[in-house]
Amino acid sequence: MAESTPKPVSVNTADASVTIDPYGAHITSWKVGGEEIMFVSKLAKHDGSRPIRGGVPLVFPQFGPGPIKQHGFARRCYWTLKETSQDDNVATIVFTLSPNEYTLDMWPNQFLLTYTVKIQGSDITMDFTVKNTSETTYDFTCLLHTYYCLKDVKDVEIKGLTGKKYLDSLLEKKEFTETRESVTIAENVDRIYLDVEWPVSFHNGSKTVSITANVSDCVVWNPWKAKAEAMGDFADTEYFNMVCVEPGAATKAVTLPAGEEYTMTSTFTVS
Ligand code: BG6
Repeated sequence: MAESTPKPVSVNTADASVTIDPYGAHITSWKVGGEEIMFVSKLAKHDGSRPIRGGVPLVFPQFGPGPIKQHGFARRCYWTLKETSQDDNVATIVFTLSPNEYTLDMWPNQFLLTYTVKIQGSDITMDFTVKNTSETTYDFTCLLHTYYCLKDVKDVEIKGLTGKKYLDSLLEKKEFTETRESVTIAENVDRIYLDVEWPVSFHNGSKTVSITANVSDCVVWNPWKAKAEAMGDFADTEYFNMVCVEPGAATKAVTLPAGEEYTMTSTFTVS
């Protein structure tokens, strides 16, 4: 790591703590009552050479593959720390990102991104704001690619998606309807649930994680065995101990006129 590489920033309350790496404004830890909620691979790179595998990668301005790099540039840039505050009840970290040579080369648009992460009690709230500082309207997709740590993925039951349509990314985005009471994972799963009515929740041991958001898509992803083995920054058996449940505006682009702002917001609660 270069000497000038910005270091991760942590804040805490009496109940919880959060750590954000300036590379990607990437949440790498959220602990409630001393217990880690986020999964980060033991093989994740933390040197800015590639997006951090785990935590909460910020996906912007493109979800998935497409004309620019997979999941966009937000998770591949160093962000600027603007503010931290903490007391026993509430703690906040604010990062911003403005265009640079790398982003303009990939996506020739002007913007100001502001990411505000707040912990309070057993909640974490992420507000991701895009301000269009250019002269013209543009479109983007965005998502909070949350990796949760699990004791055993085979026990996970994701609730709140019954009756929802989903696109199966493993079957060329063919559309299906979820008929199960809860979504379970026993193989490679890569789905985009549509028109989600939050909360979406799941149990992790004795705890429940509940997710609300102001966006309508929710990606559920677990790479399972073969894909885990193929990833250089993910240990072979770690698929057993994680699931991604990712709120976002992934299938319908946000159209943002010049001068206007859009905020994606999501709150995760542990109970
Ligand atoms: C998920 C996608 O959001 O991210 C998957 O639905 C993808 O298709 C996964 O494999 C991980 O992406 P990446 O670029 O971090 O390896």
